[in-house]
Amino acid sequence: MIEKLRNIFITGLTQAFGKNITFIEPLIVPASNAKFGDYQCNVALSLGKTLKQPPRSIAQTIIDNINIDNIADFCEPLQIAGAGFINITIKPKYISQQINLVYQDERLGVVKTDKPQTTIVDFSSPNIAKEMHVGHLRSTIIGDSIARILEFRGHEVLRLNHVGDWGTQFGMLIAYLRLEKPEVLTTANAVEIGDLVTLYKQAKLKFDRDVEFQETARNEVVKLQSKDAESIKAWTLLCEQSRKEFEVIYRLLDIKLTERGESFYNPFLPQVIEDLETANILTEDQGAKCVFLDGFVNKEGNPLPLIVQKTDGGYNYATTDLAGLKYRVTQDKATRIIYVTDAGQSNHFTQVFQVAKKANFIPDNVDLVHVPFGLVLAEDGKKIKTRSGETIRLKDLLDEAIIRSKKDLENRLETEGRNESEDFINQVSKIVGLSAVKYADLSQNRTTDYKFSFDKMLALQGNTAPYLLYAYVRVQGISRKGNIDLNNLISDDNIILTEDSELVLAKHLLQLDFILQEVEKDLLPNRLCLYLFELSQKFNQFYDQCPILQAEEKVKLSRLVLADLTAKVLKQGLSLLGISVLERM
Ligand code: ARG
Repeated sequence: MIEKLRNIFITGLTQAFGKNITFIEPLIVPASNAKFGDYQCNVALSLGKTLKQPPRSIAQTIIDNINIDNIADFCEPLQIAGAGFINITIKPKYISQQINLVYQDERLGVVKTDKPQTTIVDFSSPNIAKEMHVGHLRSTIIGDSIARILEFRGHEVLRLNHVGDWGTQFGMLIAYLRLEKPEVLTTANAVEIGDLVTLYKQAKLKFDRDVEFQETARNEVVKLQSKDAESIKAWTLLCEQSRKEFEVIYRLLDIKLTERGESFYNPFLPQVIEDLETANILTEDQGAKCVFLDGFVNKEGNPLPLIVQKTDGGYNYATTDLAGLKYRVTQDKATRIIYVTDAGQSNHFTQVFQVAKKANFIPDNVDLVHVPFGLVLAEDGKKIKTRSGETIRLKDLLDEAIIRSKKDLENRLETEGRNESEDFINQVSKIVGLSAVKYADLSQNRTTDYKFSFDKMLALQGNTAPYLLYAYVRVQGISRKGNIDLNNLISDDNIILTEDSELVLAKHLLQLDFILQEVEKDLLPNRLCLYLFELSQKFNQFYDQCPILQAEEKVKLSRLVLADLTAKVLKQGLSLLGISVLERM
């Protein structure tokens, strides 16, 4: 519809002001409020300045130049409002035809992109021998949803897990284990991941205090880098142990990822340094090799360097990301590369992107995007911790969500006097608990911090997963109660939309395509969440105001189609957030 209106307006605009007229996109947007119609064109306001005419009269000129016959079959007469907005209202008859089309379409009206891109989403990316923390949970949930949405729009998506599996910390850890727990280095499963994390912390303490140990640790790094067989075996065991732990989380959350850790790029690091040399941007600064950055200065106001090779010859996090970029562009042939990490890494990515561009790693058609997110805070606004002050283990957090959702469910069953099987209770609690955690995260604008509250995210009211899941369940309830097979509804062009709540719901149902195209651009899944939340609200209003099963046959069919389409859009939308629906709850 937006595309259609856009073309009509462009024709009107050029007819009124000539071919060379320049205007600001988007030309047509969905109206912010139903009282302004369904769509708005605000172009007269921006043209006011260029053309030095009152926007209202420009708006009138545009309308006069739009051929009524081109729009009369779907659009009420155009209205000028306020300072010069043009309000556009779609005719109910047309909405009804569109609902029928979307209902017949298995993609629910969502078109595939006409410019499919090979896209990399680099997300989750925890570190070996360290615990996965809530920051990694955010990256996992947001990255997965972005990947799902881009895939659905028809892009080829490579989901990469850039795990921290290389670097000097392994020298330190291996050296420490050799002293304290040598069996870990030779036998699989000799240690639990929790213990590995503790050992890592102890190793770090020793490293910071003990000069002799620092030397031993450095030797271990050298051995590992020169691919000493024993060191590689130890390293492999450590990686496997951590990987097993990450897998538990990924399985629980239904996350698909291809692991391609930092170690993968190790062989390409020397070449990166050579490339920077060739591009003439490499400088030696106090023995370290670095690239000076535009727009970054240190406290003294001097240009800030990005170090790519340390004095001891070692490479770092940024060097690996540079090698990664080069590989992703030349080998993976990606044209959009998206990194999902906490906002604390924004500078890192700005710097790496800048250096990669200076080194000519990035052709013009390649888009590099950092998708930053804020912190997860406890309800008191402080950093989220266990009661004893430890960092929260992800697995525990997810388990607790499931336990709490089970308690809520059991209470509800008791109040409603329902009797359900153990299987039902477990399955529903699991889906509701995990969905609640995912949705609470995704429904926030990711750039802000958010407070983690089990009570809020599990509530049946408000912008929560249970509220949305419940709207879906309601539709399935109608079908059970009326003994109606929703898969066999025959809809036609005559969907009846007479009540306000029917029309409002129907119009909202037609917006999915627009919303997904927006998320594809700005990578903000919370826009999809808001859309689905509003859909559930509009459905509930419709459900309260319009009897379905008792209505006369034609109205009943129309309302069933609206209800079933709501369920289908909810199911599709939630699945793009990594959430599956329930038939009953
Ligand atoms: N391992 C890093 C961390 O835990 C995240 C890696 C993000 N991806 C990247 N290509 N740098 O903070």
